[in-house]
Amino acid sequence: MSEKKQVGIGIIGAGFLAETRARCYSQLAGIGEIRAVASRTEESARAYAERHSVPKVFTNYQEMLALPDINVVDLCIPNHVHRRVTEAAAAAGKHVVCTKPLTAYTGQDLPADTSDEDVSKRERRQMLEVATADAQAMVEATGQAGVQLMYGENWIYSPSISKTTALIKESGGTILEMRGGECHSGSHSPYSKIWRYTGGGALLRLGAHPIGAMLYLKEQEGQTRHGHPIRPVSVSAEVGDLSRIPSLLDEEKSWIAKGWQDVENWASVIITFDDGARGIAWASDGVLGGMESRLEIYLSNSHIKCNLSPNNLVQAYAPDPQVFSGEYLMEKVETKAGWSTPIPDEDWSSGHLAMCRDFISAVAEGRPAKSGGVLGVEVIRVIYGAYCAAAEGRRVVLRDG
Ligand SMILES: NC(=O)c1ccc[n+]([C@@H]2O[C@H](COP(=O)([O-])OP(=O)(O)OC[C@H]3O[C@@H](n4cnc5c(N)ncnc54)[C@H](OP(=O)(O)O)[C@@H]3O)[C@@H](O)[C@H]2O)c1
Repeated sequence: MSEKKQVGIGIIGAGFLAETRARCYSQLAGIGEIRAVASRTEESARAYAERHSVPKVFTNYQEMLALPDINVVDLCIPNHVHRRVTEAAAAAGKHVVCTKPLTAYTGQDLPADTSDEDVSKRERRQMLEVATADAQAMVEATGQAGVQLMYGENWIYSPSISKTTALIKESGGTILEMRGGECHSGSHSPYSKIWRYTGGGALLRLGAHPIGAMLYLKEQEGQTRHGHPIRPVSVSAEVGDLSRIPSLLDEEKSWIAKGWQDVENWASVIITFDDGARGIAWASDGVLGGMESRLEIYLSNSHIKCNLSPNNLVQAYAPDPQVFSGEYLMEKVETKAGWSTPIPDEDWSSGHLAMCRDFISAVAEGRPAKSGGVLGVEVIRVIYGAYCAAAEGRRVVLRDG
C-alpha cells in the first residue's frame, strides 16, 4: 500500500490511553499513521505531538474532524464525552474507535447544576435506561453515517483469549461457566472516585473487561452453533467500598487506594445467559501484587485458563527494589523487590496492539472490526443492570430469555 493510502488516524485526548495508542499505532507502518491530535489543553496536545511526531495539533476536535486525510478518530477521552464526540465524528464521515466503557451514566439527563451527590444517588433503573440509550445512539449514529464504531475491548484481542477463542471453536464444546476479573491496588485518579466524572466505580472501570470478554465468547459460541448470539438475560450483583472497613481506616500506612467519594471499589456479578450458562465477573481496587487480569472457562469438554496479567513469561528475583529500579516490570506492582513477573510487552499481552491492528486494517480493507459497538452496548446493559441488582438486592432481568 502506498504512503498516501495509509489510514489517517486522529487521536482525541492526550492522557494515559492516548500514550498506549501512540505506541501501538507506531507499529502499524504501511497500514496507518497518526496524522493529528486534538486535546483540550494546548500544552499537553503539543507535548504529545512532539513525543510521537504527530504533524497536526488542535485544541478543538471539531477542527480536526474537518481534515480530509483523517479517516478514523480514536477517542481517548473521559466516558461522559464519548457519545457527543462519536456523533460529531460520524457526522463528519469518520470511523470511530471508542474505548471501554462505550458510555456511562454521569447525570446527562439532569440539569448541569445538579450536585455530585444527587448524580450518584440517581435511581439505578434510570441509569440503566439512560446509559443504554446513549450507547445505542452511538451505534445508530455511526450506522446511519455509514462508518464503523469499533469498541476498544482489548481483552478479546489478547494472545491468551485469541488462542482460547480458537480452542473453543475447535472443541465444539459448550461454555458452562466463566470466571474472570480485573483487580489492582486502586486508581489514583481523583476523577475515578466520583460518580459524576466516571459513571461508576470498579465494576465499570475494571469489570468492563472480563464482562466484555465473557459476552464475546458466548456470542461467538452462539454464532458458530446456531448462527445467532447467545446473549445475557439477567444479572445478580453486589458492590461495595472495602476501603471503609473500620480496621483499614485505622492503619497508618495503606497500600490500597482510599478516598472513594461515592463509587464502589469492589464488585461481583453473576451473569445468566439465554442458554443457561453463567459468568462470574469481579473487579477490585483492593488487590496487591500488580494488575491481575484473568479469565477461566469451564466447557463441557475442556477447561481453559487465560492469564493476561500477571503471566509467567519472565520470573525475576531481586533482593532490593533498586536492582531493577530503572526498568518497567508490570502495571501497578507496588515493589520491585522479591520475586516478580516482569511482562516483556504489555501492549502485546493485553491485546492493545492486535486490537489497534484490527481496527486500522478493518478500515483499510472495508470490513467490520472484530470488536464493534454492539458489544459495547451489551456491556453497558450488563453493568448498569448489575448496579440495579446490587441496589435492589435481587436478580435483574435484562431481556426475555
Ligand atoms: N484498557 C483500556 O481499555 C483503558 C485503559 C485506560 C483508560 N481507558 C479509557 O480511556 C478513557 C480516557 O482515560 P485516560 O486514563 O486516558 O484519561 P486521562 O489520562 O485523564 O486523559 C484524558 C484526556 O482527555 C482529555 N479531556 C478531558 N475532558 C475532556 C473533554 N470534556 N473534552 C475533550 N477532551 C477531554 C484530557 O485533556 P486535558 O488534559 O486537557 O483535560 C486528557 O487529554 C476513559 O474512557 C477510560 O475508561 C481505557
